Amino acid sequence: MYMPAITGSGVFTPEEIVTNDELVVAFNAYAEKFNTEHAEAIAAGEVEAKAPSSTEFIISASGIEQRYVMNKSGVLDPDVMHPLLPPRSDDEPGIMAEMALDACGKALAQAGREAGEVDLVICAASNHERAYPAIAIEIQQLLGAGGFAFDMNVACSSATFGIQTAADMIRSGSVRCAIVVSPEICSGHLEWRDRDCHFIFGDVCTALVLERAEDAKGDHFIVHSTRCATQFSNNIRNNNGYLRRTREGHMEDRRDMLFVQEGRKVFKEVLPMVSAHISEHMKDACVDAQNLKRLWLHQANKTMNDFIGKKVMGRVPEPEEQPNILQDYANTSSAGSIIAFSKYSADMAPGETGLICSFGAGYSVGSVLVERA
Ligand code: COA
Repeated sequence: MYMPAITGSGVFTPEEIVTNDELVVAFNAYAEKFNTEHAEAIAAGEVEAKAPSSTEFIISASGIEQRYVMNKSGVLDPDVMHPLLPPRSDDEPGIMAEMALDACGKALAQAGREAGEVDLVICAASNHERAYPAIAIEIQQLLGAGGFAFDMNVACSSATFGIQTAADMIRSGSVRCAIVVSPEICSGHLEWRDRDCHFIFGDVCTALVLERAEDAKGDHFIVHSTRCATQFSNNIRNNNGYLRRTREGHMEDRRDMLFVQEGRKVFKEVLPMVSAHISEHMKDACVDAQNLKRLWLHQANKTMNDFIGKKVMGRVPEPEEQPNILQDYANTSSAGSIIAFSKYSADMAPGETGLICSFGAGYSVGSVLVERA
């Protein structure tokens, strides 16, 4: 058995930013237009008028201040309200693969590895651009990696489930050097016309290099243990899928073909699940709260993270102990905890322990205990 380690991490951040103020102006223009166009039906009680959104609500409900997106003009156009990402020919790299190349390049550079030394690529993300061939295989080819590659999807927990998969393969010896890459174009599955959630998501791509600890060329984190859990729930759901065409009423405009959630229920049900999951993982690994130097949590909601941090640490964590990036990136699905890890781990001292944890649709929760070597 070999000891797996994270030896490199990288983040691709899109160039375009949408601030809360810009988002709210666009949403309110859309809502006003909708209400004018449906004035008669609204007056007759047949259609519900759209209420305006507000920056104050977004900040206080979520802690999100801005988000990065792959296309800003479409998202902010009241007549469009979704990203405009023109289709590419089969001869061009896919958009997810292109984002992945940037993040993987940064992670490989940090690890001091050439792409040709990689023998596993897992593209772990909550949505994939196409059914097949796997995005991961395209990334493998564009990078010049060897071995094999596959896609996996466990929604917001994809990256941590991907880490467990790669770490287990490294432990057993079936692969020597792996990349877990998470290109998340959340703007594509968000309903920007829904006031309850239009502010939630942003786009990003993260990548991690995992390999045998004995092969590490520089600073690295030993992966001590990983733990994954799932429990079925409809409270975060997206019904889009390949059987869409076969079903009556499959119109593009069906609300359930994009991200839908019961935010309050998610709060109530996921918080205890995640807190218990982390506590049990730490207990079984003989790591107590005093010895946990850092928590890199899933980045969906600040109140949620504050609650989990307090529960796990047994006190209010210092900001540097539980870094949040959601104020800048919003919820980037499975990539969120990895952005936090990538940006806030270099200062840790040898022997210090931290925990990466992501959670979301499924429900699913994945945790990874790491130690700075
Ligand atoms: N602007 C202004 N007001 C808004 C609004 C907006 N954009 N969106 C909703 N409101 C109103 C609602 O209509 C409601 O009004 P009411 O009290 O008069 O009915 C009120 O604000 C509260 O809405 P609610 O949906 O209960 O807000 P919330 O405090 O639960 O926050 C979320 C919403 C989505 C931020 C929060 O539920 C959340 O983050 N949940 C967990 C999300 C999560 O982790 N999901 C995983 C996804 S991967």
